[in-house]
Parts: sequence; C-alpha cells; structure tokens
Amino acid sequence: MIAFARPDLSELEERYLLEAFRSGWISSTGAFVERFEREFAAFAGTRAAISVGNGTVALHLALLALDVRPGDEVLVPALTYVATANAVRYVGAEPVFVDVDPETWCLDARLIESAVSRRTRGIIAVHLYGHPADMDAIERVAAAHGLWVIEDAAQAHGARYKGRPAGSLARAGTFSFYGNKIFSCGEGGAVTVDDPQLEARMRLLRGQGMDPQRRYWFPVMGYNFRLTNLACAILCAQLERKQEILTRRKRIFGWYRELLGDVAGIGLPPAALWAEPAPWVFSITVNEGVFGCTRDELAAKLSAEGIETRPFFVPLHRLPFYRRESAARGDCLPVSERLARRGLSLPVHDGIGPGEVEAVARAIRSSARAVRRLVLAGAGKDEALAHRG
Ligand SMILES: Cc1ncc(COP(=O)(O)O)c(C=O)c1O
Repeated sequence: MIAFARPDLSELEERYLLEAFRSGWISSTGAFVERFEREFAAFAGTRAAISVGNGTVALHLALLALDVRPGDEVLVPALTYVATANAVRYVGAEPVFVDVDPETWCLDARLIESAVSRRTRGIIAVHLYGHPADMDAIERVAAAHGLWVIEDAAQAHGARYKGRPAGSLARAGTFSFYGNKIFSCGEGGAVTVDDPQLEARMRLLRGQGMDPQRRYWFPVMGYNFRLTNLACAILCAQLERKQEILTRRKRIFGWYRELLGDVAGIGLPPAALWAEPAPWVFSITVNEGVFGCTRDELAAKLSAEGIETRPFFVPLHRLPFYRRESAARGDCLPVSERLARRGLSLPVHDGIGPGEVEAVARAIRSSARAVRRLVLAGAGKDEALAHRG
C-alpha cells in the first residue's frame, strides 16, 4: 500500500510537543507560539506571521482585516480548493471565478481585467499544487484597478517567485498546516504580513477582538481563530527540519520527472522559468486520447495496485452553492475544466523512496500499455502506434 500523504514527524516534534505539554501552556499563549510566529515570518520573508487555527481561517481573517463586506466581489481562480472561495462567502462577499493559465495552473492574469466590476475589491491568487502564480502580472492589473491581492499559499510552503518566497508577494499570504501539507501540525494555519496596521487588526480579530491594553474590553466583535502552543511546538520542529523535509520531497519530484517524462500522454507539473515550485504533491495530467485511458481509469488501476492518488479539485463553478451565480455571470472556464478532468496527484511524503516511485511509474506505464494492446488488437491500430511512447 502506498499512501497518498502522511506527515513527516520525527523525535524532535515529539520532544517539543512533550515540552509544551509539560509546561502547562497548552492553549494559545506560550513560548512556542511566539517562536513559531517569529521563525515562520523569517521563512516567508515578511515582517510578521500570525498563527491561526487552519488555512481557511487564515483566509477568513485576511478578508475581515481588509474589511471585505456584503456586496463586494473578490476574484478567485476557478480551480482551487473550495476554502479559497468559501472564505469570501463567510464575509458576505461573492467570489468571482477567473480561469487558470495552462502554463502555471494558477490564476491567469490576462483574464482578470474582464472579470473586474464596480464591486470588485481584491484578488486571491492561489499557488496551486505548489506552483507560484505569476504575481507581478497579477499585481499590475490589481494596481491599475485599485485592488489588493492576497496569496493563498496553503499548498506552497517554501515556493519561490523570481527568488522571493511565497507569502511575501502580496498584502497578505495565507498558509495551511493540515496533515497532508509539507509542514504540518495536524490542523493549523498562518497569515504572513508586512503592514503593521493590517497585522494589528488581524491580531485583534483573531483574539475575540479584545483590546490588548484592557482586559474584557472589546472595541470590535472578533473571533477565536487562535492556534495552540501544542500545535506551534510541532511546527517549530518542522521549521527546524525544513531543509531536510524540503530536500527529501524535491528528490521524490526528481525521480517522478525522470521516470514519467517520456510517457506519451502524461503531462508533468508546470515549472515556469521564474518559479521554484514547492514540492507538495506530484501532479500529472492524463491526455486520454494519447495515453489510452482516462484519468479516472488510471486512478482506479493504481488504486487496485495499492497506490493512492487524488484527482484534481472540482472547479468551483460546478459546486451546488456556486453554480447558480456562476451561470448568471455566464462564466466560461475551459482551462480549469480540462485540468480538472485530466489532473491526478501522486504520493509525495517521507515514506516514498526510489522503489515506491518506480512502482508508481511502472503501474502508470503498464496502464498505458494494457490499453494500447487492446487498441492495437482493434480498429485504432494506426492511432495507437502513432502515440507509442
Ligand atoms: C488552496 C487552499 N486554500 C485553503 C485551504 C484550507 O486550509 P485548511 O484545510 O487548513 O483549512 C487549503 C487546504 O487544503 C488549500 O489547499
């Protein structure tokens, strides 16, 4: 059995967790919270980082701090995890979907202009499957329309855009530390920010809105979005081991690229010249006409061989609670649709060695061959021969 994901936890995480537990500081105050926030800000290249309960809450907090309100619109890519758009709805605003760029799988800056309306307030750019969005191009259009940009870097720990770290490229960056992420504490998140005023507002809203100078005085209605010292203890260990964790995952990416690069009909994950993608999950595309079977058929075949995979996200305009608004706008999102149909993510974690990658690659190659044999035996002989890898 090759699992899709698992957290990379060592004795160091165990030691720090126990230290936090024994200290009695198990809630959201404590030395590990302060240390994690300091070290994560340094990692993301921002003045501050604010720890929160999860990546969804990180987005929600950023939108609240930017004063997004009912009636506002926020542009989001159509292909992302549902939380990106849900956070916009949580503050009463409407997410407006923009198609993704086939070269990066992230928000297509060329399509932003036509989605901007009088009600648009900002843009959430998602670094999908670890590949950074083209932030300069997005920021240029945003600036022309007086919009802010948030980076949803939930999947992109350690990614770089033109040498700059994900999380430092916009007004605010948001991260998730869910169990399947590169750095994890089970459930957790963070917002990275440079602007001191925005930081102060986020800290206020995160802690029930309580005035830091006056206990039980709440100048605003806030939220409990805090992360515990226990979770931050685990994250401090993860950050201390960041090089080890990232290097191991990058090596797995290298093996996949080497073994799958020449399989006809299999597309490898994007890597723009200006990008250093984060080694999150290894995402491929299956061109069924060339490969010989669909993404879902391949996933079923791999599953039968004990290899867990994940299909790409369902584009958000297809979900029941976004469908009506999207149809009313007349959304046309062909690249998101195509990627969602073809995309498949392969396992990347500390239990994956060269043997596992070889097993996955072998299973993929044999799926192609099995189908081709069938085609060769039938009518599509020329077609199958033409596409032999
Ligand atoms: C792009 C993106 N945004 C937001 C989130 C939400 O993070 P969480 O699950 O920690 O709430 C995720 C989680 O996978 C994500 O992938």
